[in-house]
Amino acid sequence: MPKRYKLLAAAGFSLATVLSAAKAEVSFDFTSPQNDVDGNLVLMIGEDLEMSPAIQAVDEATGGRLSIALEQADFSGDFGASLKLHVMTPYETVVVVGTGDEDLTPRKLADLGGHAAAHAEEDSTLITGNLETDVEAAGAWLAKGFALRSYSFDKYKSDNDEEDSTNSVKIMSNSSSADRALYNTDLRYVVEGVTFARDIGTEPGNKVYPEIVADRVRTLFSGVRNVRIEVLDAADIRREGMGSLMGVGLGSINDPRLVVIRYNGAGANEDPIALVGKGITFDTGGISLKPNNGMWLMKSDLSGAVAVAGSVYAAAKREAPVNIVGLLPLAENMPSQDAIRPGDVLTTMGGKTIEIISTDAEGRLVLADAVQYAQENYNPRLLLNIATLTGSAARAVGDDYAVVITRDLETSLDMMKIGERAGEDVWPLPLHPSHFDQIKSDIADIKNTGGSPGASIGAAVVGTFIDEDQPWVHLDIAGVDWRDSSNPTTPKGHAGWGVRFMDQLIREESE
Ligand code: BES
Ligand code: MN
Ligand code: ZN
Repeated sequence: MPKRYKLLAAAGFSLATVLSAAKAEVSFDFTSPQNDVDGNLVLMIGEDLEMSPAIQAVDEATGGRLSIALEQADFSGDFGASLKLHVMTPYETVVVVGTGDEDLTPRKLADLGGHAAAHAEEDSTLITGNLETDVEAAGAWLAKGFALRSYSFDKYKSDNDEEDSTNSVKIMSNSSSADRALYNTDLRYVVEGVTFARDIGTEPGNKVYPEIVADRVRTLFSGVRNVRIEVLDAADIRREGMGSLMGVGLGSINDPRLVVIRYNGAGANEDPIALVGKGITFDTGGISLKPNNGMWLMKSDLSGAVAVAGSVYAAAKREAPVNIVGLLPLAENMPSQDAIRPGDVLTTMGGKTIEIISTDAEGRLVLADAVQYAQENYNPRLLLNIATLTGSAARAVGDDYAVVITRDLETSLDMMKIGERAGEDVWPLPLHPSHFDQIKSDIADIKNTGGSPGASIGAAVVGTFIDEDQPWVHLDIAGVDWRDSSNPTTPKGHAGWGVRFMDQLIREESE
């Protein structure tokens, strides 16, 4: 499209404003066990089927019908098992959730909270019972999982309830003040970070393009202490020599952006953790056009970028003692007269050149410039990049693990442990010198694709722009960022994958 039409089109479309999603928010009230409970209840009971005093009181109020119902239904108490009971007068509904017999870690507690949310009526009172756990403030972790599972996106339903309906949940436990403190000063910000990632990851490509993501990030961080946001526009990107990021954006009327989020929670001399997230607001494949089938899902090809924003947000809100720089290279990959072609050569910020074999291998192109920019400007002590990079990663490890690739297995094993604690698992794939050999180009320094396995080749392209002695973690989340069915803490749809992983990494790096 000639530039003058591009400008007109851009003017028309930029009128579209993006309101934040209208959805049921969950609010928590943490209290110690009381006797005057009513309405909808959620009760947690383990495999031993022992009732805590508060749950016994409920049983007595039902005239013992609760125990009878559990017996008749042969309720197992298995972790995540559930039973919904209706005629438990004086209560409206009683949902019983099994807690199993294993020690409950923070991750398991969050899963349990998610199971509760999946079955609970609105405005329930959750009685935590005799939880088998050493975790202090266990109720806060339950709340985290409950809130994460309660997510929904109904912004584009014309019949959605405009006035925000809040789901008010009471969590009754013996650690209620600790629960309240941990949730309100810390874990709720992780939930908000995940919610942000899911919101933007679910937004369609006609509503959210690079400029809009930048606006939404600014809004998210407005008023957050010790955070500075810088947005490089197309002119800035050109000026910096980022021909690779610029190249990907050329085919679209929606110009690219590079959003830089700086959070300084530690001394000015402390090197930051750099988090770089692929932000393709829609990936058609470009001239190497993708097939029809499932292409709509490429609206979420910015999952890495939004996860970075969400995790920096969580760290900043809880005032983590660490410096972080989040980088979001944003572009829309479209076919047009102005788009890059297969065979084109792009020059990156550092001067290295890339021959384009497929314009659909665009994620590595935007990352190449962004990781270079991160190293040149911020001297990161750790650089992590996260991207919906390859179908290959998804096929290799399925949808319960993201792929982690590093230059040494030790780092990958560390990442597996972080993922295990975070509730977002990763599994390693290799990076071998042959993967670098396979991307040698006849006419440029490297080419953007070729060889196999695809996930490792993608990592090798990004790795070409990362110094050998730079501690580096590559996450390929193409298989996990979108779920076709729910898991305990994630409803079907955009998972917001990576916020919890990076949040856990930040915690362990700043200990
Ligand atoms: N965004 C896609 C990868 C992707 C695929 C994400 C499926 C989520 C679900 C990426 O830009 C892409 O097109 N990758 C190509 C690379 C190939 C051209 C070397 C792929 O995986 O097929
Ligand atoms: Mn692509
Ligand atoms: Zn892509």
